[in-house]
Amino acid sequence: MERTLQNDLLIRAALSQPTERPPVWMMRQAGRFMPQYWEIKNKYSFLEMCKTPEIAADVTMLPVDLLDVDAAILFSDILVTAEAMGGDLSFEQGVGPRFSNPVRSAADAAVLRVDCLDKLEYVADAIRVIQDRLNGRVPLIGFAGAPFTILSYLVEGGSSKDFKRTKLLLNNEPELAHTILQKIADVTVSYLNMQIDAGVNAIQLFDSWALALSWNDYRDFSHAYNKYILSNIKRSVPVISFCKGSSVFAPLMAEAAPDVISVDWNADLKNIKHILPDGIAVQGNLDPFVLYADKPVIREKILQLFERMRGEAGFIFNLGHGIMPDIPFDNVKYAIEVVKEFKY
Ligand code: CP3
Repeated sequence: MERTLQNDLLIRAALSQPTERPPVWMMRQAGRFMPQYWEIKNKYSFLEMCKTPEIAADVTMLPVDLLDVDAAILFSDILVTAEAMGGDLSFEQGVGPRFSNPVRSAADAAVLRVDCLDKLEYVADAIRVIQDRLNGRVPLIGFAGAPFTILSYLVEGGSSKDFKRTKLLLNNEPELAHTILQKIADVTVSYLNMQIDAGVNAIQLFDSWALALSWNDYRDFSHAYNKYILSNIKRSVPVISFCKGSSVFAPLMAEAAPDVISVDWNADLKNIKHILPDGIAVQGNLDPFVLYADKPVIREKILQLFERMRGEAGFIFNLGHGIMPDIPFDNVKYAIEVVKEFKY
């Protein structure tokens, strides 16, 4: 069911239309920094939370209710596509995500399923429950992981500091890497279309680990597939393209024609905005570590960013990457209040 949004700041900013103030949401806004998250997390495993639509909806609503952000983001994980394709995924406390069957050979790649949307139906169900709860209060952002970032988890079997095995694959067996990336890209297209059909109001593509790549490797092994995804999904909702490394890769990211580029904290956001074609908005880019600091410092750094971005249509306030689990909840709440006081 199509609902009118009471707060459409995020959608307008994403489409580079004027807004009264920058909209605000934060990557990883529903997570461990929130005491209320733990009340739920203590009862279920992370994957149970993702796969039970009522629980996923409860967690999605926490930052909307407690922080008054201008957008909700679906509670899920980028790795659920890899799980649906056949990855044996688990999340262990203190270890992070793990695949017990890493993909390292042509035989491993051959068994990865592309026709696996049935395994992700719980996400469409969650989206419908969340939209009932939101009832038009703020837009709901759906998301997926970008193929290169997903590939890195599949190949490494989990998180990695240096992406050694992934880079070895790109260098020694580029054809095999392309085969796997294409499979992930095809799953991602159907998965995002499913989310759009279920009613998300915007999409974010997370290419968190693109920063590990050289320019040429980013172009061939990451950007090419992100572009494929953006050209093959229904473009009925705004698309935000995030990567760590966007300070460097923004000109290439723009070639995939997202509505918004989400920028890490290294770059001057206004400079990035000005090298992009008209009509591409920017999202970002406060260093999340600022949120550990004293409140006057948090305030000053946010206002500095705003003064720099004053007069720019198409600006969504966010962090350069996600909120860390030990950032004080009160500081996050304060940061959002500061953003909401600001008027253009
Ligand atoms: O932003 C949100 O609040 C929505 C939900 C969301 C989660 N993960 C919940 C989560 C989103 C959008 C993600 C994306 C995600 N997942 C990314 C891209 C964003 C980024 O940070 O770069 C990546 C790389 C992942 C993979 C992933 N999932 C890792 C590396 C980890 C463990 C790391 C850690 O923080 O412990 C997860 C687990 C995860 N995903 C948690 C949450 C709330 C923690 C689960 C727990 O409670 O233990």
